[in-house]
Amino acid sequence: MYFEVRLIFLKEMKVTKTSNIGILGSTGSIGRNVLEVINSLNRKGYEIKVKFLTANNNIETLSDQVKLFSPESVYIENPGKAEEFSKKYEFKNLKVLCGQDKLEELIRRDNYDTLLVSVVGFSGLKPTIEAIKSRKKIALANKETLVVAGTLINKLLNEYETVLIPIDSEHSAILQCLTGEDKNTIKRIVLTASGGPFRTKSIEEIGTCTVEDALKHPNWNMGNKITIDSATMMNKGLEVIEAKHLFNIDVSRVHVIIHPQSIIHSFVEFIDGSVKAQLGVPDMKIPIQYALTYPHRIQSDFRRIDFNNLKDLSFEEPDFKKFKCLKLAYEAAEKEGTYPTVLNASNEVAVNLFLNNKITFLEIADIIEEQLEIHTSKENFEIEDIYETDQKIRKNLTEKHR
Ligand SMILES: NC(=O)c1ccc[n+]([C@@H]2O[C@H](COP(=O)([O-])OP(=O)(O)OC[C@H]3O[C@@H](n4cnc5c(N)ncnc54)[C@H](OP(=O)(O)O)[C@@H]3O)[C@@H](O)[C@H]2O)c1
Repeated sequence: MYFEVRLIFLKEMKVTKTSNIGILGSTGSIGRNVLEVINSLNRKGYEIKVKFLTANNNIETLSDQVKLFSPESVYIENPGKAEEFSKKYEFKNLKVLCGQDKLEELIRRDNYDTLLVSVVGFSGLKPTIEAIKSRKKIALANKETLVVAGTLINKLLNEYETVLIPIDSEHSAILQCLTGEDKNTIKRIVLTASGGPFRTKSIEEIGTCTVEDALKHPNWNMGNKITIDSATMMNKGLEVIEAKHLFNIDVSRVHVIIHPQSIIHSFVEFIDGSVKAQLGVPDMKIPIQYALTYPHRIQSDFRRIDFNNLKDLSFEEPDFKKFKCLKLAYEAAEKEGTYPTVLNASNEVAVNLFLNNKITFLEIADIIEEQLEIHTSKENFEIEDIYETDQKIRKNLTEKHR
């Protein structure tokens, strides 16, 4: 049997240059790259119409995007900012929406075919579920959705017969390596990690680091939350869980290796000893375009690897003591149930506390470890259990660190 991941059905993908897209989190790092890719594809004969955009606070960027892409609607999560946007900018025929019920209505509309999910954190889950139920194609950058509800998302994708394409560079790399392969021949998946800004630092040095130090990612320019996740290596832990659900593989066969240059985006090792890897410069526009044109490859003007200047491709084993978050993610993945929800919620709260200088960098892992230790999960859990667990953890931690 040839490779067929649960979430992606290559055989069923038609070549279509025309599509209508909704983008959740268009003002973020991924969202802005997505709009650049859409522009570039449209210049090459594609006709991708942007039907709606969403933001939380950044109404200035949102208004620039409205001028360039003329969506029918914008959704703004923060009610104060939605009001300010309506007063400040007068766009003819633009609907400005706010409130969860309005977001749900927007997602259920039949004026678009693809939902690109590039919001950060747990907020990606509900709209992704609604879009699947409305049989939309999902292009997913938001990793937290699959981390907390991968099993349920898989079930829904099968039930509503739709597809999900990953945008995360590592999962895009794995998808590219596996396309055309027999799934029974996979020995293991190896996710590469840059190691972040603290790869060469001692635990003592990391213990005294500032927010600014942790936000200095060596290779990628990303939003604050994922940048801190990269520094703790929780980002790689979340990706291990994502890979488990995307490629239907046990976490014991998903490995992590540090590759400081971020040129190889991941590997697949096969039973015959062959290894396939996907390489590229660290630029999210490449996996974004692949997700939007999948399973086709389209000419792009994005930066290329200059092999003459590529001196080193090096690899190291991750240090699970120094990067305790990675160990905790493996443990939560193996326990399953609502443990990954606890991992995610406590991480989101702890990262926020760190960004606001309320805890130290090393306390992020301590908080997550403690929440995982005191949690008990039902064996058969439903989506309500995920929402309930997420809320409980956030409430407990917010009260504790008030
Ligand atoms: N950045 C990368 O290179 C990269 C790579 C792979 C995967 N990812 C994943 O992609 C997702 C987005 O990452 P990012 O780096 O683009 O994040 P980001 O730059 O922080 O952008 C987040 C986006 O979500 C919006 N947002 C924030 N909180 C929200 C809420 N509560 N409800 C609704 N919208 C909200 C933000 O709006 P405002 O701008 O208005 O605040 C912004 O549009 C994350 O899950 C990340 O792990 C990112």
